[in-house]
Amino acid sequence: MEIKGAEKITGTIEIPGDKSISHRSAILSAMTSQKVIIKNFLFSEDCLSTLEVLKKLQIKIIIENQSITVYGRGMDGLSEPDDILYVGNSGTTIRLISGLLAAAPFMSVLSGDSSINRRPMDRIIEPLRQMGAAIYGRDNNRFAPLVILGGKKLMAKQFNISVASAQVKSCLLIAALNCKGTTKISQPAVSRDHTERMLQYFGADIKFDGQYSEINSGSRIRGKDIFVPGDISSAAYFIVACLILDDSHVTLRDIGINQTRSYFLKILMDMGADIRIKNKRILNNEPVADIEVFSSKLQAIPIDKKNVPNIIDEIPILCVAVSKARGKTVITGAGELRHKESDRINAIYSQFLKMGVDISQEPDGLTIKGDPDFRPSYARLKSFGDHRIAMSCAILSLLGKQGAVIDDTGCINTSFPNFFDKLNKHKR
Ligand code: S3P
Repeated sequence: MEIKGAEKITGTIEIPGDKSISHRSAILSAMTSQKVIIKNFLFSEDCLSTLEVLKKLQIKIIIENQSITVYGRGMDGLSEPDDILYVGNSGTTIRLISGLLAAAPFMSVLSGDSSINRRPMDRIIEPLRQMGAAIYGRDNNRFAPLVILGGKKLMAKQFNISVASAQVKSCLLIAALNCKGTTKISQPAVSRDHTERMLQYFGADIKFDGQYSEINSGSRIRGKDIFVPGDISSAAYFIVACLILDDSHVTLRDIGINQTRSYFLKILMDMGADIRIKNKRILNNEPVADIEVFSSKLQAIPIDKKNVPNIIDEIPILCVAVSKARGKTVITGAGELRHKESDRINAIYSQFLKMGVDISQEPDGLTIKGDPDFRPSYARLKSFGDHRIAMSCAILSLLGKQGAVIDDTGCINTSFPNFFDKLNKHKR
């Protein structure tokens, strides 16, 4: 994809539905006994992988316009799939669906693309086994493909998880719905709480507070219709584009501003960004707002590593913002970035370096010396098959006189179909 430099970005930009909430809305609705209508569902490759997997488990799903209708079949209403369950590039699909299948009375095999089959799965295999599940993975239970034999009675457990991961936590909460007793999960830091919020909305007996979640498995859940808010992680690309380009002003409506996801807005505001949060409201137990952004002069600030799990998906685009801020930004405690769709520390480092950013990498982070007058040099960039790397490179290259070429941008469809159409429509 060839990206041309831009002078400014303006207008009201429609941001597609939240990826994390879309996955959860389909999976949790399938576990209820109701027909659930989900509006503004994200039709990206990752979320379509979740729908395909649910369909192979005999869940009826109807797609109409921007909505889907899921016909839940109850906690034990799934049927044995007659094929491998293919999750594509989606970590959320494989980890949450494993929690769902851990207690199912049949065998299933989950596999994905080459990136998924290299990402760590021991983090779900070990705790699911402690609950009594018969789950196995390639290379001594470390990686997918995964085999789940099923037919085991799961036991409620108390977990101290060593990594702050919403995917692991959600996998265990979903598995816990299918066993007796109370499952307690604590994590070293706060991670996104969409699963807890949706389970609460569906009436589950659940308590959660930052790093701790507790679910009582006796509780049944009842499906209710859902509106999926706009994805703040997708909005982030246009927010940063607007901040770093002169004379720019954009409005983004109906964006999810859940505290466990929106911390990067606070970081940007502390850096001097003119971002206005308006019309705050709650929709299906999730906080939502409209966001207005104006071009701003940014100043580097210290980033506390305890907040890294709350900005984990925004670090690539935050690196774009800090490249054009005055001062040095140090990101540490972000080793998890090496286990995402690509090794994001190395991907950001190597591609930003090509564009002329003053950047260095450490095992668990990055250091960037920003420059308010930064203009990237023309470069041929690699996405590493990672949507967030491709979109972050595209936004940074807008600052260049000659733009850039980015190889392999098809991966953007995993989270943000039509990203380039929206960018081209709103930039001048
Ligand atoms: C997600 C959780 C995060 C995030 C991913 C989506 C989710 O991963 O990076 O893009 O939907 O639960 P981890 O929970 O593994 O950190």
